[in-house]
Amino acid sequence: MKNAGRMPALRKDTPILYPSAFQRCISPACGAAYDVDEIRVACDRCGSLLDIAYDWSKVAPPRSWKVFEDKWSRRGDPHCFSGVWRFHDLLPFMPVEQCVTVGEGQTLLHVSPAVGRYVGVKPDRLHLQYEGMNPSGSFKDNGMSAAFSHARFVGAKKAACASTGNTSASLALYSSVTQIMQAVIFIGSGKISYGKLSQALDYGALTIQIQGDFDDAMSRVQEVSRELGIYLVNSINPFRLEGQKTIMYRVLEALQWQVPDWIVVPGGNLGNSSAFGKAFYELHQLGLITRIPRLAVINAGGARTLYDLVEKNGVRWNDGQPDLDRIEHYFQEMDAAGRRASTIASAIEINRPVNLHKCLRALEWCRGVVRQVSDQEILDAKAQVGAGGMGCEPASAASVAGAKILVKEGVIAPDERVVCILTGHELKDPTATVAYHTHDAKYFDEVLRSRGVEHAKFANRAVQVKNDLAEIVKVIEERGRR
Ligand code: F0G
Repeated sequence: MKNAGRMPALRKDTPILYPSAFQRCISPACGAAYDVDEIRVACDRCGSLLDIAYDWSKVAPPRSWKVFEDKWSRRGDPHCFSGVWRFHDLLPFMPVEQCVTVGEGQTLLHVSPAVGRYVGVKPDRLHLQYEGMNPSGSFKDNGMSAAFSHARFVGAKKAACASTGNTSASLALYSSVTQIMQAVIFIGSGKISYGKLSQALDYGALTIQIQGDFDDAMSRVQEVSRELGIYLVNSINPFRLEGQKTIMYRVLEALQWQVPDWIVVPGGNLGNSSAFGKAFYELHQLGLITRIPRLAVINAGGARTLYDLVEKNGVRWNDGQPDLDRIEHYFQEMDAAGRRASTIASAIEINRPVNLHKCLRALEWCRGVVRQVSDQEILDAKAQVGAGGMGCEPASAASVAGAKILVKEGVIAPDERVVCILTGHELKDPTATVAYHTHDAKYFDEVLRSRGVEHAKFANRAVQVKNDLAEIVKVIEERGRR
């Protein structure tokens, strides 16, 4: 193994090279290649992000979707059961039998007529891809199974991440279930919901809370990982994104391999949007799909770096040469003004998304758009998802709120098929949910009004009743008549 800095040593029994895959710099002008058994998160030559690329002359690509359908009859095999590894033929960066699975990716794409009406499309056109069903309760497990497998492949003993909560919950879960590696997680102070923090603590991860926000934790964890040779599992790690491609494969599988018109996804560190773009680009190259759906990435208004750069400043991928000066200028201005991300959707409260460049590329591949939504719009959409679909955490509901705006603008037509990604489980962040539905004005003010949320028009208030049979019966009968 060629060592990139001080990195964990390879186990002697690890097969050195898996011939079908390599790491490649995403900058077309550079294109430097690295073996898959190297641990790195950036190109040595030019500092750009890396992709995992495949040499299809060394491993036969899947020629039809039937390859994956056949795996269903073999789901007694954990790698055929896994919603990530049953698509191994589309991410063959290491031997499938060595891949780690904890049963990730058993997710559901369901049609939600109620949410469809809210968004403004025909009721049968709105689909919710519910990633909250993953073992740790968010989409992160798709990527974690891939990064964690790679970490094992290269013999890592410790894995680290910075997190707004879900990545850390996922890493902590993989570590505790498999007992292969110790998890070290970095979180910002007061920036993580209790649901997510409780997971990291309960699964026994070494949890380091630093003063600062996610961006501070993100830059610190990179430094610490370099210093101590710890394997980094944030989505800056290209193997993570290979796992996250499979969310799109499962969407297609659920639609019997028909391509939807729109994929709508919340944007934070921009790993998902980048992975989805790559998934569709590759499927198109392989001839498994004949058209690529459009992508809408939705920022919270209080954390809208991508929106500002793309929609306000006109920054584009531009054949691998995005306007770096403009991007740098934006960040300098942000720092000079002391502007820090702030949103009730704490999962996406991020100033400097690490996958920005990959996301710009995905927007180009998928003729993408970016929108921002307020915390009010996020919570109203979340209440609609809860009432007419499966519940989700605030960040996830940004997708539904964003789809609604795009329909109103006429960008999404009412008869187009739209898939909104619900990235995390409802129970990840009950504080925001209870504050929205509560009677308690003080609690509402404390949690929501301070963030510009003025009303809760879809609130389902608990009914206060005396503990008396007749009174209770009266309430139930009255409610039943409505
Ligand atoms: N939704 C949820 C529930 C998330 O946890 C995240 C990211 C996103 C959306 C944004 O996804 O980064 O791929 O654009 N959470 C990270 C974390 C940052 O640390 O758990 P993205």
